[in-house]
Amino acid sequence: MTRAQLIIRLIKPALFLILLVPLALLVEQGFSDNLGANPVETITHQTGLWALRLLLLTLAITPLCKLTGVNELVRLRRMLGVYSFFYALLHFMTYAVLDHSFDVAAILLDVAKRPYVTVGFSVFLMLIPLAMTSTNGMIKRLGGKRWKRLHKLVYLCGLGGVIHYLWLVKADTFSPLNYLALFLLLMLFRLPARTQEKIKHLFRLTLPGRRSDTILKE
Ligand code: HEM
Repeated sequence: MTRAQLIIRLIKPALFLILLVPLALLVEQGFSDNLGANPVETITHQTGLWALRLLLLTLAITPLCKLTGVNELVRLRRMLGVYSFFYALLHFMTYAVLDHSFDVAAILLDVAKRPYVTVGFSVFLMLIPLAMTSTNGMIKRLGGKRWKRLHKLVYLCGLGGVIHYLWLVKADTFSPLNYLALFLLLMLFRLPARTQEKIKHLFRLTLPGRRSDTILKE
């Protein structure tokens, strides 16, 4: 079996099932009355976190391909992105249906009033065209160039997702800051190769115990 076949036939279906586990756990905890004192809050938090995690994992695929040399990993990217949208949709539905009883006026007012909700809502709106154009047919219809340009929105979604999380957390910013650091790290890989080299060089110069002259000889 080739590496591509292994990924398509084995890893992809396995990952598809694994990514349903967070939802299955929420359903199971719901039925067994184990969602804590505020079930809606628990569901909002879990679905939001999974939407963000999967968005960052989607962004991690290109760097992972570069670092490991396993370019076939790219075949998992689309599914990860669609799953991120799926959890964002569940997150939004929890907020809209369970929290706001689908009161459109109240939702729009909240989106306008609370900046972190404005950011979350904007990210959700941007994820919609990305998910809708993820099929082979849509890629063909749009043409590779336009499709690629549209899908650059995913970087804005990543940034927005992290800002949304950072903004809503009141006291302990440790977790959202970790997500921000991961997002920035992933963005470093998108910089042009020359800029990446300059950053690597600067980083080496600041490492303790390394003298710049030995580094320059390397
Ligand atoms: C449809 C638009 C969205 C709305 C209305 C919304 C709203 C909310 C609300 C009300 C919370 C809970 C705040 C609290 O407990 O104080 C929350 C948490 C969160 N949301 Fe969103 N959100 C949206 C979109 C998104 C998207 C697209 C992402 C990720 C890409 C996301 C990621 C998160 C994360 C990570 C949390 C925090 C979870 C935690 O505290 O453990 N949200 N969101």
